[in-house]
Amino acid sequence: MSGISWEKNVDVQPYNTFNVPSTARWLVRVQNISNLYELVNSTQFHNKRSLILGGGSNILFANAQYDGIVLKNEIQGIKIQSEDDQHVTLRVGGGVEWVSLVDYCVQNDLGGIENLSLIPGTVGAAPVQNIGAYGAELSDVLVAVEVFDLDTGQARTMPKDECEPKYRGSIFKDTLKSVMICAVTIRVVKARFYSVNTGYGLIRDVLLELGISTPTIRSVSEAICLLRKRKIPDPKSIGNAGSFFKNVVCDDSIRRSIESVDANTPFYRNPDGTYVIPAAWLIEKCGWKGRQFDNVGVSSRHALVLVNLGRAEGREIVWLAELIMRDVQAQLGLLLTPEVNIIR
Ligand code: EPU
Repeated sequence: MSGISWEKNVDVQPYNTFNVPSTARWLVRVQNISNLYELVNSTQFHNKRSLILGGGSNILFANAQYDGIVLKNEIQGIKIQSEDDQHVTLRVGGGVEWVSLVDYCVQNDLGGIENLSLIPGTVGAAPVQNIGAYGAELSDVLVAVEVFDLDTGQARTMPKDECEPKYRGSIFKDTLKSVMICAVTIRVVKARFYSVNTGYGLIRDVLLELGISTPTIRSVSEAICLLRKRKIPDPKSIGNAGSFFKNVVCDDSIRRSIESVDANTPFYRNPDGTYVIPAAWLIEKCGWKGRQFDNVGVSSRHALVLVNLGRAEGREIVWLAELIMRDVQAQLGLLLTPEVNIIR
């Protein structure tokens, strides 16, 4: 008996947080690894494009139809794999919502991912761009990922190093695009052995504002939720995919050339001597923050966030993104790179 079903011409608007209309020629829901073996052995699978979809929070459907198979990762489960005095190792299904995993850890007094509170998307999508925020990233706690390679039809476990995590990227974003991340293993720390990470200035400000002098895992998570809610519009009320562009990594001469335009240019120095200039600042500097055009715009809360003002199609968001990229390049000589995965 077949375990998978091939749904045809499926509306994927509910499956992307930009909330743009598009249909998938086929959609297959993956609930376990047997579904994937069945999929790769079916004749229908071969010679067709496929797209692995998690929570749809880092994706933009540029066209009205995706002429291929959307594979929706719905693999569930949060299980304790092992435990010692200080740590708990969790094995989590790729289809679990990332926020549910953060909630689980906060409820159980486990530290390590509370700074990543409220990041939309699924656990299986998290290693692809090595999600990060407020001084923490997934690679801080990542142990391994279990993948299924759609090209070879084989499952395997990849330890963290093999995933090549880096700033908003990994091997899954660069080269190994044909794998579904079925499970992720993370190692978190029991509260009494854990020091919360409040190094990122804005967290300290919010904790102060909330009157919290001895922050716990839970209060840091609450502070981060507050920070994010203030800065990033809720995709449930206004379609968006968080940061649309990556921050710009450059050398010192480029940084100085931007500084000569504005002496207040913010930047961070990486340990390898390169510099990071916030793309949000570049976009704001070029006058784009809060601008609106018919159905699309740049958030007035955060210049990195492009928004669907209600009835936008994917191609209109692509149009705005390209306009901003051309303008920032013309005004400041820097080329922005999208962080969002644009599906054409
Ligand atoms: N800034 C502006 N204008 C703005 C917003 C920010 O000029 O409208 C400048 C300020 O100088 C600010 C700096 O940009 O100090 C950095 O801003 P922020 O702290 O908001 O961080 P970010 O670098 O813009 C990154 C992630 C976010 C994550 C935040 C918090 C990327 C591409 N984005 O943004 O991730 O929440 O840090 O740590 O690295 C996401 O990936 O979807 C996302 C929201």
